[in-house]
Amino acid sequence: MKILVIGSGGREHALAWKLRQSPHAERIFCAPGNAGTAEIGENVTIPANDLRALVRFAKENRIDLTVVGPDDPLAAGIVDLFAAEKLRAFGPTKSAARIEASKIFAKELMRAQKIPTAEANTFSDSNEAVRYCERAKFPVVIKADGLALGKGVTIASDPTTARSTIDEMMNQGRFADAGLRIVIEEFLSGTECSLHALVDGRNYLLLESARDHKRALDGDNGPNTGGMGAFSPADNWNSKLQAQFEKQIMRPLLRGLLQGGINFRGLLYPGLIITSGGLRVLEFNCRFGDPETQALLPRMKSDLLPLLEATIDGTIDRCAIEWDSRAAVTVVLASAGYPGKYETGKPISGLEDAAKLEDIHIFHAGTRRVNGQIETAGGRVLAITALGSTIEHARGRAYDAAARIHFENCHYRRDIALGAAAANIRELS
Ligand code: AMP
Ligand code: GLY
Repeated sequence: MKILVIGSGGREHALAWKLRQSPHAERIFCAPGNAGTAEIGENVTIPANDLRALVRFAKENRIDLTVVGPDDPLAAGIVDLFAAEKLRAFGPTKSAARIEASKIFAKELMRAQKIPTAEANTFSDSNEAVRYCERAKFPVVIKADGLALGKGVTIASDPTTARSTIDEMMNQGRFADAGLRIVIEEFLSGTECSLHALVDGRNYLLLESARDHKRALDGDNGPNTGGMGAFSPADNWNSKLQAQFEKQIMRPLLRGLLQGGINFRGLLYPGLIITSGGLRVLEFNCRFGDPETQALLPRMKSDLLPLLEATIDGTIDRCAIEWDSRAAVTVVLASAGYPGKYETGKPISGLEDAAKLEDIHIFHAGTRRVNGQIETAGGRVLAITALGSTIEHARGRAYDAAARIHFENCHYRRDIALGAAAANIRELS
């Protein structure tokens, strides 16, 4: 089979790497890819949001399966465009992708199906939103309705912050049309967990649990990022929570989607928070998580390709996934300044040396090769995943590898999976 992976992040490198191992995969293309995907397949210089050019490429090259990594092309309807040309693509249609692309749509669906989530109000008038905040209990969480590169959520601890956030989103066009409508919801405290499900419209198959670290700096300080690290399995997850999750969230969600005439086929990843009052949904994502995918796929022993195909064909109920029982820890190496301004074009050294370590996978994100030299080309540069018998073991290995890699202004968190590793040790002793 000829496979096209759309995107250029660490998630896409991990997907391409995993699909490459399938005995059914003949050629792998990545659009636009990065220096890592170029080593396992062929990069195609088409940006992930140039939908027409991607359709043309898939047609001309007789691509058998396209796997869409990021949310933007899904929200823009790439899968619908492919379907219209009888091309197979993994991911939800435009109307199904609204579950991530519109927080208001997701909230309405959850309300109708009584899926536990934060109490929320939606606003399309900024004065009304400000007036609401005058009476609200702080902190409140303010969310742009649409996609905002993971930056559309602000936790406002006082009315002044709330007022300025509302003004930026709704009046000053900080997120363009994505911020014209907003959701203001109650602040929930607890620990977060990411669950990934392959959903074929009627049925689903869960992947193992994972946790990511969204804040830029150690100790969960600094701004939210796309994710600075992840680990799997999640230390805060267990079979009791999983049973609750399936009963209170997954089944009602699929029912609600079908009732609304939406046949969701693709990867659904609810972001969850475990509060003292039980599980709550923070958001729904309609694609693989980044960097969760880089932690999950090295643990997946089964071939990913038939699983993606079964999702498209509506036969996921006949599938199962075999997992490596070892833990995985992923540390993201970023350019200093990310998620704000950062420099690119810094030569990267030590990649080969780090790759020699046992059970290490180095996934590229913002990298490119210029005259034979791999250099930085983005905010998140590399994701280093290590497997180990315990989270502590995997964590040590991931940081050993990270220490061997160098580029100017490299920044990474030193506390990925730290609490989990400590808990793991306590549990074992
Ligand atoms: P979202 O894009 O909706 O997942 O939000 C991004 C991050 O903001 C989440 O992963 C949480 O860390 C935080 N967050 C979102 N909603 C809430 C909430 N209601 N209470 C507390 N934190 C939240
Ligand atoms: N790791 C968070 C996300 O992919 O949305």
